[in-house]
Amino acid sequence: MIEIARAANPELLEALNRLIPQLSSSAEALTAEALEAIVDSPSCTLFIARHEGHIVGTLTLVCFAIPTGTRAWIEDVVVDDAARGAGIGDALVATALDHARQSGTRNVDLTSRSSRVAAHRLYERAGFQIRETNVYRFSFES
Ligand SMILES: CC(C)(COP(=O)(O)OP(=O)(O)OC[C@H]1O[C@@H](n2cnc3c(N)ncnc32)[C@H](O)[C@@H]1OP(=O)(O)O)[C@@H](O)C(=O)NCCC(=O)NCCS
Repeated sequence: MIEIARAANPELLEALNRLIPQLSSSAEALTAEALEAIVDSPSCTLFIARHEGHIVGTLTLVCFAIPTGTRAWIEDVVVDDAARGAGIGDALVATALDHARQSGTRNVDLTSRSSRVAAHRLYERAGFQIRETNVYRFSFES
């Protein structure tokens, strides 16, 4: 059910442009070039979930080396509204954690704003714990 996206093909591009608006109302449409860069990136692993052959969910795992070790982040987790509550989010997270463990990272981080109740339940059930730290953002947009 869960696979790693290996090719930036039209099916994947259509699916992501259907799923991303269900995650973020401000994200711009993904272009074929941007998708190709993600799929080809050695630090990004784009997981997709299929149900009856159709792409119904996605998660991106980013693993990168820094002086203190290998770090991993989970980003852009979304399951199609019509396919929610069937364990697909759970399967995406579990697969990403397996992959991250194999990359040698000790921790996997993510952020999730407080209104995302279903996501919090999913992450906590998967074993994530809230970490007390400040999350800062510098924005280039006014
Ligand atoms: C979060 C999300 C990925 C979960 O996907 P999913 O396939 O439905 O996940 P699962 O079926 O594995 O599990 C969902 C859990 O959330 C629970 N849930 C669903 N809606 C809920 C709600 N409104 N309030 C509380 N819990 C809720 C489910 O009951 C289930 O937990 P349980 O099995 O312990 O009862 C999906 O809801 C989604 O795409 N949401 C919009 C985007 C988003 O918020 N992404 C996360 C960004 S941090």
